[in-house]
Amino acid sequence: MSDDKRIKSVAVVGAGAAGAITAAALKAENYFERIQVYERRETPGGTWIFDADPKPSLAIRPGRLPPDVDPPLEIPKELPQITPPNQQERFSKTPIYNSLTTNVPDIAMCFSDRRFAYGPFAPHYVPRQYVENYFSAHKTDDLLVLNTTVEDITKLKPTTSQDRPEKWRLTLRKYDPARHVDVWWQETFDAVILANGHYSVPYIPHVPGLEEYTQKFPSRVQHSKYYRSPLPYAGKRVLVIGNSASGHDVTAELVSAASLPVLQSRRSPSRWDGDLPPPGISWKPVIRQFLASGRIVFADDTYVDDVDVVLYCTGYKPSFPFWDGEANGGPLWDYKNDKLARAYQHTFFRDHATLGIVGLPRALTFRSFEYQAIALARLFSGRNAAPLPSDAEQEAWERERLEDVRRRGTKFHDVQWETGETFDWLEGLFRIAGLGTLRGEGRIPPPLTEELIWAVEHIRKYPEPGRGEEGGKKNEDEINMTISDKAKPVDTQDAEWVLVERQHKDLLAFI
Ligand SMILES: Cc1cc2nc3c(=O)[nH]c(=O)nc-3n(C[C@H](O)[C@H](O)[C@H](O)COP(=O)(O)OP(=O)(O)OC[C@H]3O[C@@H](n4cnc5c(N)ncnc54)[C@H](O)[C@@H]3O)c2cc1C
Ligand SMILES: NC(=O)c1ccc[n+]([C@@H]2O[C@H](COP(=O)([O-])OP(=O)(O)OC[C@H]3O[C@@H](n4cnc5c(N)ncnc54)[C@H](OP(=O)(O)O)[C@@H]3O)[C@@H](O)[C@H]2O)c1
Repeated sequence: MSDDKRIKSVAVVGAGAAGAITAAALKAENYFERIQVYERRETPGGTWIFDADPKPSLAIRPGRLPPDVDPPLEIPKELPQITPPNQQERFSKTPIYNSLTTNVPDIAMCFSDRRFAYGPFAPHYVPRQYVENYFSAHKTDDLLVLNTTVEDITKLKPTTSQDRPEKWRLTLRKYDPARHVDVWWQETFDAVILANGHYSVPYIPHVPGLEEYTQKFPSRVQHSKYYRSPLPYAGKRVLVIGNSASGHDVTAELVSAASLPVLQSRRSPSRWDGDLPPPGISWKPVIRQFLASGRIVFADDTYVDDVDVVLYCTGYKPSFPFWDGEANGGPLWDYKNDKLARAYQHTFFRDHATLGIVGLPRALTFRSFEYQAIALARLFSGRNAAPLPSDAEQEAWERERLEDVRRRGTKFHDVQWETGETFDWLEGLFRIAGLGTLRGEGRIPPPLTEELIWAVEHIRKYPEPGRGEEGGKKNEDEINMTISDKAKPVDTQDAEWVLVERQHKDLLAFI
């Protein structure tokens, strides 16, 4: 490869777990001349940084998506520049609550070369310390540029010769607490890897009457991002929406403090839901409407009048305020289909050979980030064992996956465990990366060992009803049994088959 075409510099956006492993994988190549990891927080750790004070809790904007609620900042016309500090909310605080512990056994959650301090399920500060230490353990801490937000990423097209590769211009904003100012400047890189996480901007679905309800009863509607402990809910009548990891934990914890029963509105059963709610909890279906009187009406026509708090545990939407779709030839995220736009294997971009993303799929977290980071590092160093397939094949992969997830009723970036999808995906990344050099340059994608697989399938934080405390792997028949058990048969003339209204939830669906 001519020296002109080499990728010599790489910027990483974010210093959570994905940024930590990306920095380690890039450094291990011993190839790049410049690697920088930009992190808007004061320390690495990402999601696992605990913000005791979650404020500001923002106005509730039901159904609104990140482009609306987390818009880009106005960038000063001339750079470098010093401006008064930004006042616009950037959602940089995390949703970690006091009692939160990890929910995946540590052997399967951590990177392959270091274990968590202890496990299988550790308090939130253990992964935070782990991520921070990972930078120093791999001597990538000197690559960190902290308190610095990437506010814009623009692709610079080659101007002179068609042969010269594209570059990326990053616009950066660093808050200087000593002077209480924002310092703005720009830097240019040959490649960029996004590791910016996707659990920052809370999502509250649109429900008829909810907007008016929040105006009439300000502060009554909240999101789990701002939940820290059950204490503020003592004696209050609380309605929790959602029953994934947040909905489950928050509802269970509220039983110790709130007025009983704690109401929980569920759209579909989770794997750990039995036939009846646990003591102190009353299940409700989805909300149909909020009325001006304060009444909340559910899909089964039942209602409640006397709720003090409506606590939405309805998750998050990815946000890329730094991505100017117009300047870069198209959006990065397709909110209609909840997926990356024109991306391959949740990691590579068809339109941008020198852009990658780590950390997006709902799969084993840290461990799968490792395969993504190694594959990207190897690709950018030009030492990859297998090339990416042609554009047409990548496009076909995207199209077929979209059809497949629509058919299965799953989400594009949910990579399932029980169907073997996780193994296929990681194997694909493994093959692209291959081995490093004979001299030991480059990380080698780790084996997914029997011990790790056993832990995922047998050590459960959330016991499943009828499966004992540890749960256990379901065989094919049992999975099918669960599907038809939970299936709501649609009234058909044909008694031979039923239409499954909600799909079976994967073993790791809560991740
Ligand atoms: C409440 C909660 C509990 C969880 N529990 C578990 C669990 O038990 N087990 C598990 O495996 N997973 C869990 N997860 C998932 C968790 O998100 C992953 O484990 C993992 O930490 C994600 O790492 P990440 O680096 O992709 O993202 P993050 O940890 O979110 O890190 C992204 C980083 O990028 C920074 N950033 C974002 N935008 C910019 C920008 N423009 N400029 C500069 N910096 C930027 C952010 O400040 C952040 O530090 C949990 C998630 C949540 C929300
Ligand atoms: N370590 C821990 O203990 C812990 C604790 C909390 C969170 N987390 C992590 O944090 C991340 C986010 O989890 P989360 O639970 O906040 O979000 P989530 O997993 O995205 O779950 C969202 C929940 O909201 C429901 N929902 C979404 N849209 C809805 C709508 N329009 N109407 C009704 N219900 C709706 C979903 O129902 P359906 O299931 O029917 O879609 C689901 O129950 C995950 O990675 C999770 O593992 C971890």
